[in-house]
Amino acid sequence: MGDTHPRPALRADQAIRPSLNLKRKPRMKRILTVVVIALFGSALTTWAADAKTNWDDGCAKCHGADGSGNTKIGKKLSIRDLTDAAVQGQFTDDEAFKALKAGLKDKDGKTRMKPVEELSDDDIKALVQYVRSLKK
Ligand code: HEC
Repeated sequence: MGDTHPRPALRADQAIRPSLNLKRKPRMKRILTVVVIALFGSALTTWAADAKTNWDDGCAKCHGADGSGNTKIGKKLSIRDLTDAAVQGQFTDDEAFKALKAGLKDKDGKTRMKPVEELSDDDIKALVQYVRSLKK
């Protein structure tokens, strides 16, 4: 009814589709797999690079690039050696996350480590995993 416009697109589509479907499907699957793997791989690389950059920029001056705490400030603040498995065992991922999110204070309420302000929760979680990777 009322539909006066012909629809060549639809007709063309119907004409082409069966043969395309037959030939393309396995290929599309392979291409998709490759794309998915590529995306996933690059996401992982970005994650590692970001966490390392954030560590080097914001944490290494106190904790040392290697996490040993062997820096001027690290010694002054008696920062524990994060490469030491025993030290890593002294806090959970959750506690580390909270320490970064809210900062750390000593008994007298004096700030030991400032809260991380400029990073998202995901970035902070990635940093916690980076800290875990410093364990020797
Ligand atoms: C001003 C120096 C300073 C900076 C900068 C700093 N920290 Fe800390 N951090 C400390 C001190 C001091 C402590 C408490 C002593 C200790 O745990 O050895 C601490 C403790 C920690 C802990 C142990 C938390 C817990 O629950 O016991 C982790 C994990 C940590 N820092 C990670 C980081 C990360 C990641 C960054 C970078 C975003 C960072 N720190 C930046 C000084 C610093």
